Amino acid sequence: MSGEWWRHAAIYQIYPRSFADGTGDGIGDVAGIRGRLGYLKDLGIDALWLSPWYTSPMADAGYDVADYRDIDPVFGTLAEAEAFLAEAHDLGIRVIVDIVPNHCSDRHPWFQAALAAGPGSPERQRFWFRPGRGDNGEQPPNDWQSNFGGPAWTRVPDGEWYLHLFAPEQPDWNWEHPDVREDFLRTLRFWLDRGVDGFRIDVAEALVKDPALPDFADMPIGVPAPWTDQDGVHEIYREWRKVADSYPQGAIFVGELWLTDPERFARYLRPDELHTGFNFPFLSAAWEARDLRTVIDRTLATHAPVSAPATWVLSNHDVTRVVTRYGRADTRHTWDLTREAHPADLALGMKRARAAALLSLSLPGTVYVYQGEELGLPEVQDLPEEVLADPRWVRSGHTDRGRDGCRVPLPWSGDAPPFGFSPAGGRPWLPQPPEWTAWTAEAESRDPGSMLTLYRTALRLRHETPALLADGLRWLPSAADVLAYARGDSFACVVNFGAEPAELPEHTEILLASGDLVAGRLPADTAVWLRTA
Ligand code: NOJ
Repeated sequence: MSGEWWRHAAIYQIYPRSFADGTGDGIGDVAGIRGRLGYLKDLGIDALWLSPWYTSPMADAGYDVADYRDIDPVFGTLAEAEAFLAEAHDLGIRVIVDIVPNHCSDRHPWFQAALAAGPGSPERQRFWFRPGRGDNGEQPPNDWQSNFGGPAWTRVPDGEWYLHLFAPEQPDWNWEHPDVREDFLRTLRFWLDRGVDGFRIDVAEALVKDPALPDFADMPIGVPAPWTDQDGVHEIYREWRKVADSYPQGAIFVGELWLTDPERFARYLRPDELHTGFNFPFLSAAWEARDLRTVIDRTLATHAPVSAPATWVLSNHDVTRVVTRYGRADTRHTWDLTREAHPADLALGMKRARAAALLSLSLPGTVYVYQGEELGLPEVQDLPEEVLADPRWVRSGHTDRGRDGCRVPLPWSGDAPPFGFSPAGGRPWLPQPPEWTAWTAEAESRDPGSMLTLYRTALRLRHETPALLADGLRWLPSAADVLAYARGDSFACVVNFGAEPAELPEHTEILLASGDLVAGRLPADTAVWLRTA
């Protein structure tokens, strides 16, 4: 395994509860992942990122962790996780695990101890407990709102309130406390000792809060909100980096950083902090040549001064699936747009998602593929309300349908649910649409025109083309609604966002196209990879 693999890796995101169910309880697990390692090898990815597999009451699908150093029984055992790590490594696949340091579960022993110990106790210092405002403390300590709706504070029976930027079942850690810092270093070492190759850091920018907990409404414009992007967070990552660098396999960090200011984003990627951060501006951009070109230029300019590789991300387990998003009238990702269903032209979305795959797989840096993206799965927008499990649904007073539509269990084979996701007879935790017969990995493997075949071919070519694994991109002359760029001396990618077919630049060979060319020209919403010398 070579030195800085993470600078150009193709990384596949596994959302364990929806990937493959080995035990038959309808929920994906480690046994299921182990059974599909051959599929991942054939796909041609370099590494996996697994969403949390830790002990959890699953109030937020595992992003509420009760024990950071064990596996939830729903997913399997620690021994199985270790066997999986060894098997992935044997296949040359690296493994990145999720770490959730902003908050834990309300079932975490330290939070339970804090509840039991009462106001003023040392146990409460590890979290953010405060008296309320108002005559009887009946108002929350400040005006912060939870990301899932409602106040970011919940009152406990003794009258104090505790902070949770997400669900009430996810109390925020107090990172001022040395116990918290030390325990996370222990967790990092625990997994590094077991050979993991990196960590994806949940809510990476929010660990440190302004200790005065000021009202947000009182804050001046232009400074970070008091719960996010505080300068002290960088000290934590410098400490983490030292731990990661002390391991021979050289583990990496990828931060979930939803920051709008590119300079502040880049501060997390300084050489002694995180290796990479998710490119959410790219994920959020409309299907539009000018917008995407601006995002690509800005991304490269942001990363250059800190010598970090860019990442290219089209979707994940929190956002609308690409095929559906690109088929809508508004093709951006915004949290408002994820609240409810919107009509989508799935044929158009599929065409664009195929072109977007060739775009993202040929930009310089690392690329992420969210499970099911390689099958071209659409968002399931019509899940019945009674099956919705995302805390956003309940916390929003049933106004935000949440993120379940992109978390529907994968279809692997056969012509009826559970489509090989669970052993025959198993009932997946979210219902799969019967029409997914055409989207199974088995059906797509046989179809040379499928999304899966496109991804497999593109990932193979990516590995075989040295220019795609090097730095740098050069824009080629093109019409305003076309993006055309060269990588190295002999590779070019052209994407047509306009209605009219576009001329191709001079080339010696068409390596791969996301759709048929028309009389040698590139039709609307189509991309092509060219050998140019
Ligand atoms: C970001 C994760 O991706 C999301 O799924 C989760 O709900 C929040 N962080 C809170 O942990």
